[in-house]
Amino acid sequence: MDKTEAKSRIQKLRGEISDLRYRYHVKNDPDVTDEVYDSLTRELRALEAKYPDLRVTDDPLARVAGAPLPKFQKVTHSVRMLSLSDAFSYEELESWDERVKKLLPANTSYEYFAELKLDGLALTLRYEDGVLVTGATRGDGFIGENVTQNVRMIADIPLTLPKPFPKLIEVRGEAVMARATLASLNRQQEKLGLPPFANTRNATAGSIRQLDPALTKARRINFFAYDIAELSADFSKRTAKHSDEHRLLSSLGFSVSEHEHICKTLGEVETFIENFKKLRDAFPFGTDGIVISVNDLALQKRLGVVGKAPRYMAAFKYPAEKATTRVTDITVQVGRTGVLTPLAHFEPTLVAGSRVSKATLHNMDQIERLGLRIGDTVVIQKAGDVIPEVVEVLVKLRTGKEKKFTMPARCPECGGDIEKRENLGGESVAYYCVNKNCPAKNIRNMVHFVNAFEIYTVGPKILERLKDEGLVTDAADLFALTEADLSGLERFGEKSAQNIIASIESKKKPSLDRFIMSLGIIHVGEETARDLAAHFGTIEKLSRAKASDFDEIENIGPAVSTSLAAYFSDPTSQKFLKKLFGNGVKPKPFAKVKGGTLSGKTFVLTGTLPTLSREDAKKMILAQGGKVASAVSKKTDFVVAGESAGSKLADAKKLGIPVLSEAEFQKMIS
Ligand code: IVH
Repeated sequence: MDKTEAKSRIQKLRGEISDLRYRYHVKNDPDVTDEVYDSLTRELRALEAKYPDLRVTDDPLARVAGAPLPKFQKVTHSVRMLSLSDAFSYEELESWDERVKKLLPANTSYEYFAELKLDGLALTLRYEDGVLVTGATRGDGFIGENVTQNVRMIADIPLTLPKPFPKLIEVRGEAVMARATLASLNRQQEKLGLPPFANTRNATAGSIRQLDPALTKARRINFFAYDIAELSADFSKRTAKHSDEHRLLSSLGFSVSEHEHICKTLGEVETFIENFKKLRDAFPFGTDGIVISVNDLALQKRLGVVGKAPRYMAAFKYPAEKATTRVTDITVQVGRTGVLTPLAHFEPTLVAGSRVSKATLHNMDQIERLGLRIGDTVVIQKAGDVIPEVVEVLVKLRTGKEKKFTMPARCPECGGDIEKRENLGGESVAYYCVNKNCPAKNIRNMVHFVNAFEIYTVGPKILERLKDEGLVTDAADLFALTEADLSGLERFGEKSAQNIIASIESKKKPSLDRFIMSLGIIHVGEETARDLAAHFGTIEKLSRAKASDFDEIENIGPAVSTSLAAYFSDPTSQKFLKKLFGNGVKPKPFAKVKGGTLSGKTFVLTGTLPTLSREDAKKMILAQGGKVASAVSKKTDFVVAGESAGSKLADAKKLGIPVLSEAEFQKMIS
């Protein structure tokens, strides 16, 4: 290869390598393999070694580590690097917005820009004539450290900008380390006997604010641009809004987070915040909030800066979802089925924006798994709207005064006998109060009942009151109450008595599945109740069913059918049902799809279907008026079989029941 050929080859290689870098680091394009990249790089290196005078400053391979510096030079920022004022709740965000409104002429309308607040190290990058000249840290906001040498090692920071580029641009953004990178870095640190980094922010800062560029390179830092601090006049017309700045940065080859949104209202900002919250745990980089700004740059200028922070921006901070606290006590609650549930009481602590003082420990197994003792310091977690839970015991903080917890020998509510039972195939052990008349069970059963019946006017407090007054002994009594019964009670207004009676009256005809749910049969939740309603159609048929009738229903296992059979054969439940019906409760028969193409047909599903999930197939059958059974019998009309179908397929063949593929099934219902 002669020099002219080499020259054009070198140019091509540079172009392709830069492109691959861009696709790999900025676009996260999985198509780019390391092997391809490495081999092109080897070739370019070899050619450059042969023709040293063809080397250029913007060479992608110029990202080789230089010699360590003795110390950082200082850089005076041409535009001060500000910080942000925080909003820890929507209320605080709304007051920020009100301040903005007050500062602008009346009725000025403005849109917001919402973007991620990445948790790393802020950098400012100055490009003159398209070439990176300085990279600096924030420092005190006026003077930072010149970290240009290190910054040049960050793969997604362009060393030169593609044409057309502005004469001058100063880009602000966040250097960050991926969580996965931190994990492998910490494994390495451990091997070397070095202390691990506490978080990605410290690891990022530690990788850039040190004097060896080779180390920065090895640490695989990323950079996301979020702002333009200075822009020469040749380009300033392109940016009227903060969102335009993001677009320009992206077109100049910077990584700009795709999680950003122009919001018309503060409500939309809150939606953005809520939406990202769901992605946050799985997001590759650490974030500590959302940055919200007034999008219009002219309005930003008008709003200006107060102290160290701009008035036109706010940082919404996600509340911490984990906290530590001490367990002051463990008490026991009696559930509606009589199950005893241990409850941890804490010194009240703020987690995920709310004060938490107790959390369920579910069962004895959980306490043993955690190794929890009363007095222990624990880590509690409250992810999103989820109820708080104890996730870890900090054993090292024990004093020796902690006490082991044991389940009480008698029911804490009624003093009744306790029985230890294995749950669902022996997976866990639970303790039950066996006293049928245990008042705690009773009240909780009633609460469950009114919730299932959607009688919203009657809550736990009122139920307790009614029970104490002797007006109800069980939920069936509710339907015999009169206005006079209620308004006779002390501090009970006529109006609320009327409301309650009217709402109870209006709920006398629940759907069959809600009715089944309300009975509080062990293991029968919403889903199972719906399956039962669809299968039996009426409460009469369900209550007359035998254990073997339940076994043939898809999704109903032996534990559930035993529990169902036990409930309907128990004279107490029979009496309760009779009382309900006697008081005018009449569940509506399950609305069968009439004239559906599958009406009257029973299906059994087996194996993995190529496109439909089992649940989808089942829904389609039910929607067409068909039934789904769990086992093949003479009553089965069709078996729909997918891959690795087992004994059900064999049974179908034995009984001569037609077997359909998914495609045939789809055709049948289309
Ligand atoms: S704007 C006016 N946007 O948060 C201040 N900052 O507390 C300019 N940060 O020092 C910052 N992501 O390190 C802005 N999308 C983002 C950000 C962001 C992270 C950091 C940045 C800054 C700190 C402010």
